[in-house]
Amino acid sequence: MLLPIVIFGDPILRKKALPLEEINEELFKLAQDMLETMDANRGIGLAAPQIGRSIRMFILRNYQEQEDGSIALTEPQVFINPKITILDDRLQEDSEGCLSIPHLSGNVVRPYYIRVEAVDLSGSPFTEEIEGYKARVVLHENDHLNGVLYIDRISTDERKKLEPELRAIKKKYAEKK
Ligand code: NI
Repeated sequence: MLLPIVIFGDPILRKKALPLEEINEELFKLAQDMLETMDANRGIGLAAPQIGRSIRMFILRNYQEQEDGSIALTEPQVFINPKITILDDRLQEDSEGCLSIPHLSGNVVRPYYIRVEAVDLSGSPFTEEIEGYKARVVLHENDHLNGVLYIDRISTDERKKLEPELRAIKKKYAEKK
């Protein structure tokens, strides 16, 4: 089932999401719906607050280079109650967008190499060391669980440039309510 995506201006995107106490059927269904919604919107990551649920869960796919050099998307991964550790001081800078802030993008500097401890949909804890672009996606989605958006991490100049469009998105959302 496709879920409506919460758009910038909705206060839920600014809330700190709650840890999940229990992994049940309902959550399983929610993760499936999130995956369908992410794929339909051509996203590579989606956090629960973006579909209106203030819980600590996100999903993502990663890019993977194939033997023939083409790029494919990996199997989706679910992260529940993630905990992130930055493993060294390397940084990376790249352009980011967000399904909750349609049509805009901005440059964000993020750590390059991280460790994530999380729980999967079967309730099993896992630990993964992640670098590069996938680390960026994990950090972006994890920010959503803390009410942080990538526009909070772009340069002041860039933010100034985006501000009129951000206001327009906010206004559009307010009118829809
Ligand atoms: Ni996002």
